[in-house]
Amino acid sequence: METPYIINTHSHVNMLKELSVEQAVKNCKDENITIIVPSYDDKSIFEVDELVKKYDNIYGYVGVFPEEVKCFSDKTLLDMENIIKNNPKIIGVGEVGLDYYWDKSFVELQKEVFIKQIEFANEMNLPLNIHCREAFGDTLDILKKYNKNSTAIMHCYSGSLDFAKECIKLGIYIAIGGVVTFKNAIKVKEVAQNIPLEYLLLETDDPYLTPVPFRGKENQPAYIKYVAQEIANQRGISTDEVANAATQNALKIFDI
Ligand code: NI
Repeated sequence: METPYIINTHSHVNMLKELSVEQAVKNCKDENITIIVPSYDDKSIFEVDELVKKYDNIYGYVGVFPEEVKCFSDKTLLDMENIIKNNPKIIGVGEVGLDYYWDKSFVELQKEVFIKQIEFANEMNLPLNIHCREAFGDTLDILKKYNKNSTAIMHCYSGSLDFAKECIKLGIYIAIGGVVTFKNAIKVKEVAQNIPLEYLLLETDDPYLTPVPFRGKENQPAYIKYVAQEIANQRGISTDEVANAATQNALKIFDI
């Protein structure tokens, strides 16, 4: 049986500790997996730029992650623009968004930088890879108000089915990661069962959130197949069907 082509829409392959980038990328290549690597601050944008030039099955996003917004400046936006204009393998803005889980002391700054990066993505005409943790209402309000033309993706979706449906009404895609394989992840399983396949994307968010059966060990981008498998189990369809649908969606969104 041929391995279906899978696009892993969020992998920090450059942050793995136990596996070299070379090995992790090779494991993906062997299994027909393409990965998209986000950046998270004003320095890692350059790292992602270099990384995607080295491997043909890696693409990248540039953006500043909510926890790192204190490093964001006008210069960061200029750097991002330069990278995008000179590297066609940078295919989105991410990861950007709001995170109220760890530290709520700079929520206003998070919002401000999120809005700036949405407007930037609109200008560049690129999709947005969005990190949203315990900030669902604000994230959606800001997207409704400021996002004009960028396709938005909720990365590592952790919200309710109702909220997912609200997102989908606005054309926002739902990316599901390894959490769906966790026994107690009732909400994410419910989302995996019920959202239209047309709005599903797959990701691993490695090195975090390792799927079963490797939970407790370091995650890697090739484990994306366990995510696809669990979603297939939840829906009572084949893994190939899930993988193919998600890949078609990713190909529609991204210039890969
Ligand atoms: Ni991430």
